[in-house]
Amino acid sequence: MPTVSEIKGARANAGIRWLVPAKVAVFIAMLFPLARLVVLGMTGGLGANPIEFITRSTGLWTLVYLCITLAITPVRRMTGITALARFRRMIGLYAFFFAVLHFTTYIWFDKWFDVAAMLKDIGKRPFITVGFAAFVLLIPLAVTSPKAIARKLGRCWQTLHRAIYLIAALAILHFWWMKAGKHDFELPKIYGSIVIVLLGWRVIAWLRTRATRRRA
Ligand code: HEM
Repeated sequence: MPTVSEIKGARANAGIRWLVPAKVAVFIAMLFPLARLVVLGMTGGLGANPIEFITRSTGLWTLVYLCITLAITPVRRMTGITALARFRRMIGLYAFFFAVLHFTTYIWFDKWFDVAAMLKDIGKRPFITVGFAAFVLLIPLAVTSPKAIARKLGRCWQTLHRAIYLIAALAILHFWWMKAGKHDFELPKIYGSIVIVLLGWRVIAWLRTRATRRRA
């Protein structure tokens, strides 16, 4: 007869066995937007303004990955699939990776590494100001993402990583302001609603926990 700890161990191993290929699959799938850009670049499919195409594509994928990262905890709590938490760090780092690509396209092909021109742009164009703020705020989250650092920081890590909500809000503002000139708010409205729902869920969850603690 297997002991309880043996059964638990076997279950954990079965979980890990399923988790590793799933993580590899997600890792590869999330490279798709980059692979698409490379293929389009090699086949002349980036349109009349390739820099604009790349900037917009990397910006949009940064936002998509940010939203997926934010959605993991609510979906995990609602479905009870705890293993989803194991994907959060990887997807968050993908959001940062695409933000780096987005920013690099801007500073390289738009500003030709002219830092003074970039700072002038940040001061002059509000949509660039908030985009830059979102990017700068993402850096400490990416740097502190390794498990060893998270363990060292303890509760401070959780407080720091709550900045993801502010980053998402700034990203929506960036997107909204960018589209304001063209009066094209369809996509910013969709992504804005997603972020509001995810933020609202978080606030409700926090209020419920506080009420339960008070009662206890
Ligand atoms: C977390 C950080 C950021 C996110 C989530 C983000 C997201 C986006 C999104 C969604 C778009 C519009 C894509 C579309 O049209 O479909 C965009 C465009 C753009 N972003 Fe960002 N962005 C970020 C940071 C930055 C930074 C740091 C800069 C530069 C300093 C920047 C510069 C631009 C520019 C120049 C455009 C294109 C404007 C145009 O084509 O007229 N973004 N970004």
